[in-house]
Amino acid sequence: MNVLLLGSGGREHAIAWKIAQSPLLSKLFVAPGNPGTAAFATNLNCSLADFAAIGTLTLTHQIDLIIVGPEVPLVEGLADYFYSEENLKHVRFLGPDKHAAQLEGSKDFAKQFMHRHGVPTARYATFTSETIEEGLTYLETLEAPYVLKADGLAAGKGVLILDTLGEAQESLKTLLGGQFGASSARVVIEEFLTGIELSVFALTDGKDYVLLPEAKDYKRIGEGDTGLNTGGMGAVSPVPFADDAFMTKVIDRIVKPTMTGIHAEGMRYTGFVFFGLINVKGEPFVIEYNCRMGDPETEVVMPRVASDILPLLNAAASGKLAGMHLEKDARAACTVMLVAGGYPEDYRKGDVITGINEVNGSMVFHAGTALVEGNIVTNGGRVMAITSYGNDIHDALRVSYENAQKIEWKDKYYRRDLGKDL
Ligand code: AMP
Ligand code: GLY
Repeated sequence: MNVLLLGSGGREHAIAWKIAQSPLLSKLFVAPGNPGTAAFATNLNCSLADFAAIGTLTLTHQIDLIIVGPEVPLVEGLADYFYSEENLKHVRFLGPDKHAAQLEGSKDFAKQFMHRHGVPTARYATFTSETIEEGLTYLETLEAPYVLKADGLAAGKGVLILDTLGEAQESLKTLLGGQFGASSARVVIEEFLTGIELSVFALTDGKDYVLLPEAKDYKRIGEGDTGLNTGGMGAVSPVPFADDAFMTKVIDRIVKPTMTGIHAEGMRYTGFVFFGLINVKGEPFVIEYNCRMGDPETEVVMPRVASDILPLLNAAASGKLAGMHLEKDARAACTVMLVAGGYPEDYRKGDVITGINEVNGSMVFHAGTALVEGNIVTNGGRVMAITSYGNDIHDALRVSYENAQKIEWKDKYYRRDLGKDL
C-alpha cells in the first residue's frame, strides 16, 4: 500500500515512524514532511492549501491511502475535494469532510452538537456583533474567571481566560470587533471549569471506533503551568488519574454519545476524534473536540500503540473498522519538547542543532527543523520532541531529560517539571 501523510510537525513524524513499521506498507510519502521524516520516507514539497497539487501528487505516486495530520486542510474541505474529483474518488481518505470538521472548526457548532447528544460540557452562550449587548450582560451572570472563545480556527490563540468582568467585557468587544477576522465574528462565552486536563483519542470510520492510549499534555511555557499558552511543551501517557473508573465514565458519557451522534447525523467522518477533556472532581467534561491527533500527544500515543497501525488507518478510511482492535504497549511513554528561546512569542530560526546523534535510549521527533547546507537547524518555535519509554512516566521522563541535555542550540529551552503534578 502506498501512503501519503500530510503535515510537517512532530505529530506527523511520529505517525510516519509508526506507519513505516508496517509490513503492509509499500511506499510512504510525507508532504511536506521534515528532515526527520526524510530519514525513512519520501518528502514531497507541497503547500497543504493547494488541493489540486495534493491531488496531482496522489495520482503521480499512485497513493492508496491519504492521511491528514493538521486540521486546517480538513476544515477547508480537502476531503470534499477528494470525494468530488472523479479521478481521486478511488483514494481512501482519512479525515473528516468540511461539515464534520466543524467539530473543531466552529466552537459553536461543537457546543450545539454536544447539547444535541447530551455530552457533558461547560454551560455556554454564543454572541455576534448584533447581540454584543446581550453578551456583555451574559458575562455579568457568570463568575470569574471568564472564558471567551473565537468561534473559528485561530492558530491556538482564540481562547481567552480573563480574571475580571471588565477585562472580559473589553475582550468580547475586541473579539467581535475583528481581532481574529472571520474566526471571531462569533464568540462563545462559557463557564470556567476547574480541574485537570487530559486528551483522549478515537480512530473512527464514522460508525465504529477504536480508542488510542490517552495522554496529558503540558500547554504553558513556564514551569508549574505558568506563563503563555503554547502548542504543547511535552506529554505523558498513560495518565495516572485516568483509571478504569474514570475512563468508563469517559467512554459511556462522552466517547459513545459523540460517535453515535456523528453516525446519526450522517457525518462523513473518517479519522481521529480528539477529545480535549477536563476532570472536574472525578467527572469528565469536554473542553473541545479536535478533528485530528494532538501534538505533542501523538509523540507518546504512537509509541504506545502496539498493534500495526496501518491496517487500522486503512480500515477507518474504508468504513471497515467494525470488529478491529488496538493493542496498547504496556510501557509508559513521555515526550519533552525542546523549543526555541522566546517561544511562544518572537523567536529566532536557523540556529544549528548539534548532538542529535548522541541521544541514547530516546526517539527524536522533529517538529520545527530544516536541513540547510548539511546542517539541521531550528525552523519553528517547537523544534524537537524527545520521546522515551519507561516502567512509569517518571522513569520515562528521566531518560528524556538525560537526552534533552545532549541536544544543543543557542537559547534552547524546555520545561524541567513535566510529570511533577501527577
Ligand atoms: P481550547 O482551545 O478550547 O482547548 O482551549 C484552550 C485551553 O483553554 C484549554 O486547554 C483549557 O486549558 C482552557 N479552557 C478552555 N475552556 C475552558 C473552560 N470552560 N474552563 C476552563 N478552562 C478552559
Ligand atoms: N496539544 C494540543 C493540541 O494538539 O491541540
